[in-house]
Amino acid sequence: MNILVVGAGGREHAIVRQLLKSKKTDKIFCTPGNGGISCDAQCFDVAATDIAGVVSLTQQLKPDMVFVAMDDPLVAGMVDELNKAGFRAFGPDKKAAAIEGSKVFSKNLMKKYGIPTAGYEVFSDPDAALSYIRSQNSYPAVIKADGLALGKGVIIAEDEQMAEAAIKTIMLDKAFGDSGNNVVVEEFLTGPEVSVLAFCDGKTVKPMVSSMDHKRALDGDKGLNTGGMGTVSPNPFYSDEMAARCMDEIFLPTVRAMAAEGRPFKGCLYFGLMLTKKGPRVIEYNCRFGDPEAQVVLPRLKTDFVDILNAVIDEKLDEIDIEWYDDSCVCVIAASGGYPSAYRKGVEITGLDEKGQLDGATIFHAGTKLTDGKFYTNGGRVLGVTTLGRDLEDALDKAYALIEKISFDGMQYRHDIGRKKIIY
Ligand code: AMP
Ligand code: GLY
Repeated sequence: MNILVVGAGGREHAIVRQLLKSKKTDKIFCTPGNGGISCDAQCFDVAATDIAGVVSLTQQLKPDMVFVAMDDPLVAGMVDELNKAGFRAFGPDKKAAAIEGSKVFSKNLMKKYGIPTAGYEVFSDPDAALSYIRSQNSYPAVIKADGLALGKGVIIAEDEQMAEAAIKTIMLDKAFGDSGNNVVVEEFLTGPEVSVLAFCDGKTVKPMVSSMDHKRALDGDKGLNTGGMGTVSPNPFYSDEMAARCMDEIFLPTVRAMAAEGRPFKGCLYFGLMLTKKGPRVIEYNCRFGDPEAQVVLPRLKTDFVDILNAVIDEKLDEIDIEWYDDSCVCVIAASGGYPSAYRKGVEITGLDEKGQLDGATIFHAGTKLTDGKFYTNGGRVLGVTTLGRDLEDALDKAYALIEKISFDGMQYRHDIGRKKIIY
């Protein structure tokens, strides 16, 4: 099979690599891809958000499948348009992608179907939102823009002043455009966070191995929220018992709820969970593989990836057994100095071989450019140094030894991925 992957980050690199391991794949294309992906797949320069452009590229390449990996094109209906043009695509259609595209939709879905989540209220009027927050007088207050906001739409306000600023940024200044027309104000929860990605074909749900992201920029969970500074799989806080409970209380009810709403979810559904003292709660749903969760989950997949993707598209997920390697996997992100605030691009990266790799690790490229045989930074998150080990400690030792060999001016990374000693 020839497969076109739509997207440009470390997640897409991990997807491309996993597709290349399949016995079923012939050629892999990626648009727009990046420096590292271009060593593994033929890249094109159509933006991942350009639906008409991707449809026309697909008509030109005639791949057997298109894998839409990113949230924006999924929420905007790229899979619907690809299907209309007669192509097979992996990823939810527009109606199902609303589970990530609108927090108001997903919160109301959870309420209607009794799926455990943080208590909440929805507001379209900034004054009403603020007087509610003031009347609750309970901080931190969690304020979320309804729509997509590049991972920046969640503000944890420590006091009234911060809450006022958050409402102003989201609803009045429209920092995230129409995504801020409505806000969700939510109860603040505590507990370890777990990411569970699951294959879904509209009826059947098969969770993948668990993982844990590290969202804050700096060691000790300090600094600003980022797209994710590193991941480990499995998540040390997620027991088999908890997995069984999440299946009954969250995964199956969600897939059934989406089907009952006439929005069967086909693709990868991401459950962002918090394990609170009162039980597991859904913090967020995403309609796609997480980034950098995909980078630690996919390398542990034993079953042929393409067989699973076909089973999802053909609604035959119940007919396939999905197997995983027992190894642990770790991904440490090397980011540009200053990220997630302002940072430079075009800085030369040293320490990688001609294919952008390093012996002993898999280097998933997130924001790189390849020019005249040299790799340059081209984004906030630059590389994901990914290693497998017999346990998390072993994988972490390898990743941290190898990341030292890579350098670029301003490079920053967290030193405590997978080493959080959390007491809840
Ligand atoms: P999101 O962009 O929805 O993943 O949210 C970003 C981060 O904000 C999450 O990973 C959590 O750490 C935090 N967060 C979101 N909702 C809540 C909540 N209700 N209580 C506590 N933390 C939250
Ligand atoms: N790592 C979080 C996300 O992909 O949304």
